[in-house]
Amino acid sequence: MKNGKEKVILANWKMRLNLKETQELAQEMVKKFKDFNGGTVGLCPNFISLPSVKKILDGSQIKLGAQDVFWEEVGAYTGEISAKILSEVGCDYVLIGHSERRELLMENYEMIHKKLKVVLSSTKLTPVVCIGENWDERKTDRRNFVLYEQMHQALSGIDLKESRDIIIAYEPIWAIGSGTAIEPEEAQYAHKIIKMTLSDMFGEKTVERNFKIIYGGSVNKDNAKDFVGLENLDGLLVGGASLKADEFYAVAKTITNF
Ligand code: PGA
Repeated sequence: MKNGKEKVILANWKMRLNLKETQELAQEMVKKFKDFNGGTVGLCPNFISLPSVKKILDGSQIKLGAQDVFWEEVGAYTGEISAKILSEVGCDYVLIGHSERRELLMENYEMIHKKLKVVLSSTKLTPVVCIGENWDERKTDRRNFVLYEQMHQALSGIDLKESRDIIIAYEPIWAIGSGTAIEPEEAQYAHKIIKMTLSDMFGEKTVERNFKIIYGGSVNKDNAKDFVGLENLDGLLVGGASLKADEFYAVAKTITNF
């Protein structure tokens, strides 16, 4: 039985594949998901591969996403990519504030806030804002506060039009790439905190209409079943397990009960 909002399952390929591997995997995904109608599926390849993957995905139901974006619309920003360019290339989604960028590139929530703003104001892309606590914060029982704070920093003052959606990806940093996902009850609890915070900020109606909350961090074909039917879980952001079409398909199929 399906419950809640339509699920969205996004593949984050990070910097794991070269150009050829990226195209081959995109082709396999198109074949694999040909008859899939369980929810929305999207692939986030590296920047350089976006145009070629877009061509491969054309005519299929798989959406395209980017892994990052810059916070200005246009200008002298060497090495950066604007939301408009992502839109031009045919993206539907863009990840914002992935924890690897926060950790390795010193991205902070002020930057994340600006990125979110420019995406919403200059394009129709759906932003996927990543939040999540690290191991130390979890161990010392600060998770709820950290999530609250990250959401406020990223989303405060955002002007959200009725037609615009935002996805919040709850990705506990300690679970990403670790091989061990969070306990489903814990994910459900964190998603509840996120939903309550969003409701305080935007009102329940807007949260119901415009927000989805998805989980990311070591989801694979074996543990995906643990996430089925969880309250306030509207999908998954999948890293490692999205690098094989069979496994990603199995995850998507499981979570959507298709
Ligand atoms: P993982 O990555 O599934 O490999 O843990 C998830 C992510 O970083 O988005």
